[in-house]
Amino acid sequence: MATLDPGALARTAPLYERVKRVIPPFEWAVFADDVDAILDLKRKRNAVVLAHNYQTPEIFHGVADIVGDSLLLAREATKVDADIIVLAGVHFMAETAKLLNPAKTVLIPDLAAGCSLADSITAADVRLMRERHPGVPVVTYVNTSAAVKAESDICCTSGNALAVVESLGVDHVIMLPDEYLAQNIAAQTRVKITAWKGHCEVHERFTPTDIRQLRENHPGITILAHPECPPEVVAEADFAGSTAAMSGFVEKQRPPRVVLLTECSMSDNVAAVHPDVEFIRPCNLCPHMKRITLKNIRQALETDQHQVTIDLTIEGRARRSVERMLAL
Ligand code: 13P
Ligand code: SF4
Repeated sequence: MATLDPGALARTAPLYERVKRVIPPFEWAVFADDVDAILDLKRKRNAVVLAHNYQTPEIFHGVADIVGDSLLLAREATKVDADIIVLAGVHFMAETAKLLNPAKTVLIPDLAAGCSLADSITAADVRLMRERHPGVPVVTYVNTSAAVKAESDICCTSGNALAVVESLGVDHVIMLPDEYLAQNIAAQTRVKITAWKGHCEVHERFTPTDIRQLRENHPGITILAHPECPPEVVAEADFAGSTAAMSGFVEKQRPPRVVLLTECSMSDNVAAVHPDVEFIRPCNLCPHMKRITLKNIRQALETDQHQVTIDLTIEGRARRSVERMLAL
């Protein structure tokens, strides 16, 4: 199916230049109409699109104003001047943006864009952990609901987890809910870390066998892993870091051949701007991130669907945990 408006193809041609290595022309012809409409709606409605690194290239390079990892999106959300923020990512990211911008309209194009980590723990679970470990501070990954953040002392992301843990000046912390992130941080600090049993359904599937096969099949490959991967995977990788840190590694080091052990679209987005790097792509899809499409971003801007709201009884406490992290 071709674009409905031939003018849209011409108007979006400069944007296509950015993604031509990862999106074939016939696919862009299908996207151009929505990209063009979204750019127009953003201007008319004084809206911005914040997109996570796992969004597909037509969103990431085509319509986003700000792109990055969870930490950058949270930080940038505090500086947004527009009336409307569309969060092209998952629900906890939109909630974080709303916590930091209570007066603005924050839209998530699909309310069902969840996260297996956020679903792995409730506010009652956090209270139970506190009862079991009296006086031990709770460091909560941003991949959680606002209700869980409200029960926590401070938030962290994969980009600052070690710094957050060490900033507390204690010898024991509870770190929720990602067991693997907690174990990967525990390997880098003397602080004792008590973890929860949550896992990312995307990263838990990578294994050390995958790494060995990659090294065998692609000699000289550089292997980057997200710290939500199991510790035995991180131990065999060449570098582990947040999505922004992985992207920064490729930017700085320019390895001739690389694999990113993370969500699939991340490789497309980085490959689009690094034609000199060969990307090997045994990646895993995040079904939640993939719920966000150009169509539902356009619909969000046309209809204000779906507005993110936060329960007033938890809002202040949840915001405090995120702000404490950002103040570091
Ligand atoms: P980053 O903070 O590294 O972008 O990770 C977010 C996420 O959901 C990874 O699965
Ligand atoms: Fe959640 Fe994993 Fe998807 Fe990230 S990749 S949003 S941690 S399920």
